[in-house]
Amino acid sequence: MTLGWSLFVLVFAVANVAGAGALILWFSRARTTEGATTGHVWDGDVEEGNNPMPRWWLGLFWLTIIWGIVFFVLYPSFGEWSLLGWSQTEQYEDEVAAAEEVYGEIFAAFAATPIPELSSNPAALSAGRNLFVNNCATCHGSDARGARGYPNLADDEWQWGSAPEQIVATITNGRTGVMPGFGQRFDDETIDTLVDYVQFLAGRDVDAARVAAGETQYRSFCSACHGPTGDGNPILGAPAFTNETWLYGGGASVIRDLIVNGRMGQMPAQEPLLGADRVHVLAAYVLSLSGQE
Ligand code: HEC
Ligand code: HEC
Repeated sequence: MTLGWSLFVLVFAVANVAGAGALILWFSRARTTEGATTGHVWDGDVEEGNNPMPRWWLGLFWLTIIWGIVFFVLYPSFGEWSLLGWSQTEQYEDEVAAAEEVYGEIFAAFAATPIPELSSNPAALSAGRNLFVNNCATCHGSDARGARGYPNLADDEWQWGSAPEQIVATITNGRTGVMPGFGQRFDDETIDTLVDYVQFLAGRDVDAARVAAGETQYRSFCSACHGPTGDGNPILGAPAFTNETWLYGGGASVIRDLIVNGRMGQMPAQEPLLGADRVHVLAAYVLSLSGQE
């Protein structure tokens, strides 16, 4: 916390407690006497009393204020200043360090085993599954089957490559797939031809004349990334079209939207959060899932 913010918090904290104290003082001064009334009368004879506040009651208020001040001094309530020097961040870091002491060795041992071997080690897979549920399932689903825009990790198709080093690189540094949009460059007819051609590459029935027209365009504008036969390129993360596994969906309108507007799917880097050893175990876990479908 910067000095400015600490001062800001301090001023408000002190003003608050002082204000509460002043209020109690004001009420403590006996401004009425026992048996006094406000003068309000209901139903002819029901009067509203105006007795002074009982001393024990006011005493309780003073106790809460004293308790508050003790707490303020011990814990960081005046910005960053506190007697105990305790902070949430430090407590968190201590707990992480304590956990690292317990689990660090286990993961270090897993990290010494090559990934293909690790991917059939039940203890490593069980640890990998826990890590996956906590860190990856929000996007890829707890069964790793993904959703639109989030790849299915349980199938046998890989956008960024299935070699252990490629999976480790994906998880470590994250990935950004850049599919440029062609809406500005092409007229509707050209885009429709390309939609047909992508469907042809996926093995669907497409009119031969449309295929011939699409092939020319495809070779000029798409094959550099998606490959001449549409088998993709793991270096760029360009998906293959030669199967019915789609990242964004295989309907003609979805394919059309992709070509017109482009897309930039992003997998965030996980290594800064998890460390290399856990990434290693996760890669083994992901590898063990592939081909389950
Ligand atoms: C914020 C969402 C998000 C989180 C969290 C996330 N991912 Fe991803 N992941 C993605 C997206 C999106 C892609 C596809 C990137 C693209 O379009 O190129 C992806 C791609 C991948 C791929 C590449 C798949 C392929 O076919 O090549 C792997 C492997 C992967 N993620 C594993 C993981 C693991 C393991 C974790 C947890 C440690 C994780 N992801 C956490 C969103 C996420
Ligand atoms: C610069 C390289 C590049 C070029 C050129 C390119 N693409 Fe892509 N394309 C990609 C990448 C990378 C992705 C994945 C996007 C993501 O991960 O979000 C993609 C995704 C797609 C998808 C979605 C596939 C799925 O599984 O859902 C379609 C369809 C597509 N491209 C068609 C085309 C067509 C047609 C052309 C030519 C007009 C083309 N692309 C040109 C890189 C490229």
